[in-house]
Amino acid sequence: MPALRRLLLLLLLLLGVLVDGDGKTEYPETVVLPLRRGGAAASVHELLRSDRLRQRTIRQRLIRRGALDISPSIAGAAAAEEESFGMPMTSGAYAGTGQYFVRFLLGTPARPFLLVVDTGSDLTWAKCRLRGRRRRHRVFHPASSKTFRIIPCAAEMCKNDLPFSLSACPTPTSPCRYDYKYSDDSSAQGVYANESATVILAGRRRAKLRGLVVGCTATFSGASFWAADGVLGLGNSGSSFAARAAASFGGGFSYCLVDHLSLRNASSFLRFGPARPPAAAPVHETPLVLDLQPFYGVGIMGISVDGKILAIPAIVWDFASGGGTIVDSGTSLTLLAEPAYGLVVGALSRRLTWAPRVSMDPFEFCYNWTAATAEEKAGPVPAMVVHLAGGARLDPPAKSYLIDVADGVKCLGIQPSPWPGVSTLGNILQQEHMWEFDVENQRLRFSRSTCQAN
Ligand SMILES: *[C@@H]1O[C@H](CO)[C@@H](O)[C@H](O)[C@H]1NC(C)=O
Ligand SMILES: *[C@@H]1O[C@H](CO)[C@@H](O)[C@H](O)[C@H]1NC(C)=O
Ligand SMILES: *[C@@H]1O[C@H](CO)[C@@H](O)[C@H](O)[C@H]1NC(C)=O
Repeated sequence: MPALRRLLLLLLLLLGVLVDGDGKTEYPETVVLPLRRGGAAASVHELLRSDRLRQRTIRQRLIRRGALDISPSIAGAAAAEEESFGMPMTSGAYAGTGQYFVRFLLGTPARPFLLVVDTGSDLTWAKCRLRGRRRRHRVFHPASSKTFRIIPCAAEMCKNDLPFSLSACPTPTSPCRYDYKYSDDSSAQGVYANESATVILAGRRRAKLRGLVVGCTATFSGASFWAADGVLGLGNSGSSFAARAAASFGGGFSYCLVDHLSLRNASSFLRFGPARPPAAAPVHETPLVLDLQPFYGVGIMGISVDGKILAIPAIVWDFASGGGTIVDSGTSLTLLAEPAYGLVVGALSRRLTWAPRVSMDPFEFCYNWTAATAEEKAGPVPAMVVHLAGGARLDPPAKSYLIDVADGVKCLGIQPSPWPGVSTLGNILQQEHMWEFDVENQRLRFSRSTCQAN
């Protein structure tokens, strides 16, 4: 997860973004739009059609086995609109974090929690109190959920499969405990449980997803968790929420990230099940590299600035050589391993010499945008394009890499990461795009989107 989360937290505080003192959070209205069919580019449409056929079968099988609990009328009809579900998703900027949040309904009866959406980790957890009275702030109380079952430490699953589970097992029925470490040094400690969540299907009915592995977190460290109630782990592993949801709703999930500085009422959806056929924007597709559990890897072929491919050694993008790139919704800024970092910010900054430099730690290149003349600002900002395997092009808006850091100050929003090591495409670079993680077919698809109609 987020190497630079704390950093962005500070930056957003500098920006004067309001933090809720009492931890209260307003949720956007829950509105799930039905799947819209037709109007797609032919090739993508074909792909989606075969996915749908496949997952309809999977779904029927699960309904028969009772793994998916939907009211009988729907199970019988299996209307197309019921084959996906969505959760409202918002930028956490208003709460002072560089994360995106979803509203997640946990337990029975279902209670809402605001979770950080993280494709870079595989534990879904909520701040939780196993015992004791209900407190004023929002905490999950297992005692008041009928479906909560502690996973015992003697279970095979605890010993072999669950990430960061602790080996201590005083008695066979003692809880399976975890001490989950994130890559930014934050962590969460608690007990593993088998629990249900409620999801709102595209047809607006509710369904219960049973047999989820969730964490009841008693203690945590890391400022990134202050504003949220926990984390929705979408990483690629057997126990993650993404895997469990995919087993019932087809092999993937998709999200559209609104501008990270947008108002708190701007929301989009995290969606499970077939992605909706894309609108007018072209859809790019690249293979997903799935052997880096729980991370989602992609192959970068090169990065260009104003049409010129930079001379970045291919080894930087090669997983086998200790490099490679992951797509992470839990990281805010994009991190490039040296020497990619130097070449990219070098090329961008050479085209911005007209703008007066200012210093603003930890960014290397920042510009006083108020001091630049009107004509200068109207001129072109260098265009950065990330070229991915299979011919896909990520052509982000300039504000995704020349980011607003303070009033009138813009900085190149890319950070260096050590070499050898992976590079990370963070959520700011992903903003205003629709991303579809088609895990089953090992494909990542993306297209420009305002996230409005989503
Ligand atoms: C969760 O509990 C249900 C019912 O008790 C059981 O069938 C299922 O195998 C459990 N799943 C996990 C992941 O422990
Ligand atoms: C969000 O709120 C602002 C003002 O508070 C309003 O102008 C805007 O239209 C709202 N946007 C949405 C998507 O509701
Ligand atoms: C930017 O330039 C303006 C006008 O030249 C000046 O007033 C302001 O203090 C500068 N801002 C920073 C952050 O240096």
